[in-house]
Amino acid sequence: MTGMPDTSASALVRACRREPVPHTPVWFMRQAGRSLPEYRALRANIPMLQACRTPELVVEITLQPVRRHGVDAAIFFSDIVVPIAAAGIELEIKPGVGPVIAKPFRSREDVDRLRPLLPEDVPDIAESVRTLVHELGDTPLIGFAGAPFTLASYLVEGGPSRHHDKTKALMYADEPTWHALLDRIAEVTLTFLRVQADAGASAVQLFDSWAGALSPAQYRRYVLPHSQKVLSGLADLGIPRIHFGVGTGDLLPLMGEAGADVLGVDWRVPLDEAARRVGPGYALQGNLDPAVVLAPWPIVEAAVLEVLDSAKDLPGHVFNLGHGVLPDADPEVFGRIVELVHRETAR
Ligand code: CP3
Repeated sequence: MTGMPDTSASALVRACRREPVPHTPVWFMRQAGRSLPEYRALRANIPMLQACRTPELVVEITLQPVRRHGVDAAIFFSDIVVPIAAAGIELEIKPGVGPVIAKPFRSREDVDRLRPLLPEDVPDIAESVRTLVHELGDTPLIGFAGAPFTLASYLVEGGPSRHHDKTKALMYADEPTWHALLDRIAEVTLTFLRVQADAGASAVQLFDSWAGALSPAQYRRYVLPHSQKVLSGLADLGIPRIHFGVGTGDLLPLMGEAGADVLGVDWRVPLDEAARRVGPGYALQGNLDPAVVLAPWPIVEAAVLEVLDSAKDLPGHVFNLGHGVLPDADPEVFGRIVELVHRETAR
């Protein structure tokens, strides 16, 4: 496309492609959000979903952590339930709770309430991405969406859940309905990611935050085909696809098989061990424990160096947390982490 900045030489895109980099790229999941006072000021009195659909706010909130921390990539400010809401499902994002669905999904009839998402449903998303890509210049923008299992969990449970019991009960008790639901979600997710990619996102991340609730055999049977539909549906775009989950140490090879270029690793598995599990052919992203950031700097520093040490033989490494920034984290620490990683890995 003409006039779009070229990010193919950026450290992020190169690391995702396992090409040599000037330094290890760094970004933080949930870098845009409540740890930043300038975010809280902008969001005061504006509901989360409304903020996600207001390009002026999306652009400003996405840029805040880039300016403040000097990270190597921006992550699009949105939420995993934005496309579900745009596809006709009544929901709210409650502060301190998360997404809450007005009428949870329990039956085959419920599946039909989730209609396909059309690009025309989310013109504001394309507009926000286009503006951001222009403003960011050679800093890449990462688009994202929720993976079918994680979104199904919100739809079936009706809100955040510790053990995903109702979700797994549906999965076991009514396999045809389960696959119909995940297939429908996969289509919505794919459309949402393609809208972001078509508008200029340089990479995409598929968040399967709750997939760690499943065994490898369960993941393979009930989830992998649907995440594969999303990731293979992006293959023709030629942009890096990052696939992330929490508690997924045993699932990493299957999450790779689903069609990822980069596997996101949580803090439970050292990166060198993760690399042994998945074999060659993937870059890895991670994996500083988000809670370490709450400790004094010398402890943070040692933990960052430990992550870099476990990543030293990887073909491609994107430094990140093992999950999202905690709301109570001191934002100053993230800039120091970026500087430290850049200095330690300068080539
Ligand atoms: O900086 C970024 O990473 C971009 C923005 C982003 C948000 N949500 C903004 C947000 C991203 C990538 C997400 C993804 C998301 N949303 C996931 C996957 C990532 C993960 O953390 O595993 C999940 C599971 C959700 C669902 C969700 N939305 C939760 C669990 C919450 C937190 C509830 C709370 O208030 O504690 C939300 C709300 C949300 N999404 C906030 C932000 C900044 C907080 C809303 C606020 O500021 O009031």
